[in-house]
Amino acid sequence: MPPTFRNKARGASRILGTGRYVPEKVLTNEDLERLVDTSDEWITARTGMKRRHVAAAEEATSDLASIALQNAGEKAGLDLKELDAIIIGTATPDMVFPSAACMVQRSLDLGGIPAFDISAACSGFIYASALANSLIASGWFDTVGVVGAETLTRITNYEDRTTCILFGDGAGAAIFGPGNGQSGVLSAYLGADGNLSHLLNQPAGGSRLPASTETVKARLHYIHMEGAEVFKSAVRAMESSAVRALELAGLTSDDIDLLIPHQANIRIIKATASRVKIPEERVYINVQEYGNTSAASIPIALDEAIEEKRIAEGDTVMMVAFGGGFTWGSLVVTL
Ligand code: ACO
Repeated sequence: MPPTFRNKARGASRILGTGRYVPEKVLTNEDLERLVDTSDEWITARTGMKRRHVAAAEEATSDLASIALQNAGEKAGLDLKELDAIIIGTATPDMVFPSAACMVQRSLDLGGIPAFDISAACSGFIYASALANSLIASGWFDTVGVVGAETLTRITNYEDRTTCILFGDGAGAAIFGPGNGQSGVLSAYLGADGNLSHLLNQPAGGSRLPASTETVKARLHYIHMEGAEVFKSAVRAMESSAVRALELAGLTSDDIDLLIPHQANIRIIKATASRVKIPEERVYINVQEYGNTSAASIPIALDEAIEEKRIAEGDTVMMVAFGGGFTWGSLVVTL
């Protein structure tokens, strides 16, 4: 039995506020047509993507994350000095170490509280949120700032048309506080399969293959992805994660007001929604605007959905992710 979140912590925490930040610069399908042998038609049909946002040269992941967390603090009406911990889901921290979370703590002047990153690729926000919930459930912390933040364009090979069309930069944040008996986390489910790590990774730059002139020449410091295999696993894992989270919450798909899937590809999103029997009008899709922002995609979508009034207090949301590792997970929350 894979690790699951025990529902004795059901309702232990709730989302106090969400925020986001995406860089201004936009990379369109037409821009990509000038870089590699591709077309707007191909990209739109195969991925649903039209644009993605790209961090400015001086912006690192923690810069995006800091703004998103500040934005969440403002919307939650919470002074960030009240946070007990910062957790960031990211595959593209500013440096291998220290963590992006420590850099956020520094830039927001929140010194003293624990700050750390979670490495679960595109599932990073779900992993971090599940952990925040359990830390609050355990009574250790009251208020935790969770951020999904990425600058994937920094590790994207713009000579490889099979991957460079997919990725964008951005950050989304949620502040978790104690449950209030009405709203809160209803269930969380996490899983991973390291046997499939070779299908999606950044081969060089770690201890297995340290960065060298050779690794850079061979372009091994960029994302390596076997797209078709990733696609099949993503659909299967996102479906089973959603089913498991619903079971744990004691709900059916009819109880879900909005499904927020990881925005990896419109075909993955639609296949997942159809397998879990949630009609498209109850699925949030913004992949056309941001591409795949990995750990940032779900919190950006959550914040947008709240802002657009697609969901409001009392509504139940299911967030489902899949990413490199492979990792996967889901979270059901009543706002
Ligand atoms: N433009 C034009 N043609 C292209 C492009 C492109 N950008 N990219 C690939 N092609 C060609 C291929 O070369 C191939 O040509 P061939 O038949 O002559 O060999 C053809 O299109 C079909 O290629 P496939 O790879 O089979 O295309 P597919 O339908 O699988 O779509 C895609 C590719 C979009 C990458 C898809 O596999 C996908 O979305 N996979 C999942 C990606 C994903 O979710 N990754 C992130 C996970 S999250 C994380 O942790 C970062």
